[in-house]
Amino acid sequence: MSALAINPVQRVVRFYEAPIGKKAVMALTGVMLFGYVVAHLLGNLQIYSSNPEQINRYAAFLHNPANALALWVARLVLLAAVIVHITASIQLWSLKRAARPIAYKKKDDAATSYAARTMMWSGPIVAAFVIFHVLHLTVGAVVPLQEIGPNEPNVRENVIAGFQNPAISGFYILAMILLCMHLYHGLWSMFQSLGISHPRYTPKLKQGAAIFAILIAIGNCSIPIAVLTGLLR
Ligand code: HEM
Repeated sequence: MSALAINPVQRVVRFYEAPIGKKAVMALTGVMLFGYVVAHLLGNLQIYSSNPEQINRYAAFLHNPANALALWVARLVLLAAVIVHITASIQLWSLKRAARPIAYKKKDDAATSYAARTMMWSGPIVAAFVIFHVLHLTVGAVVPLQEIGPNEPNVRENVIAGFQNPAISGFYILAMILLCMHLYHGLWSMFQSLGISHPRYTPKLKQGAAIFAILIAIGNCSIPIAVLTGLLR
């Protein structure tokens, strides 16, 4: 074997050291987190089922001790994805700053660049939201949580009781709007980083990213709004 041969771990480290490696890792972890957001929204929309027990049955299934291992593996994978996503974003941001210490005066104006400029603060606010949200609906540190029985949270009651507080609902709605901008720019820049760009398809990809992000925001915001307006009670 040649003395210059490197093992697979070194290969991955070298790949990550290059900016394109960091961008690819951000794209991969971003897709994982995006997948979670979509799956979580589909789960939450069960609150509109004509059967009020539906969402609680779903929660009881997730909390069933028989599924505990799968649940914890999924939680740890997601947590790792969040940590890697944040670390790579900070590293890319400092590389960019080091390469161009004085920012261009003229900002490339467009809806995209507005979302782009908000990335470095929409990200931290969404992260702060997730911490608040887990304390609110998983830990029960904001409003006491109700249970139907052991490992059976009364998700329907807990969501409705929380969103009846306008301050809590307002914070959720604000965070969902920032998440929408973050997803829009994140999806869009992922296509660019991966080199998926073509004069004919690029506007369509941009439109697709916007539609996806807006649909997710509508689905998420609809729940606190439905509670505040008394549609969900
Ligand atoms: C109005 C919108 C949302 C509602 C009604 C909602 C509802 C819930 C509920 C009821 C739980 C507890 C589930 C359980 O214990 O079985 C939960 C957990 C969680 N939610 Fe949300 N959620 C919303 C938006 C989001 C968003 C946008 C994110 C991510 C950006 C998110 C991330 C999480 C996480 C990470 C957990 C903890 C999961 C776990 O304990 O394993 N949620 N959510």
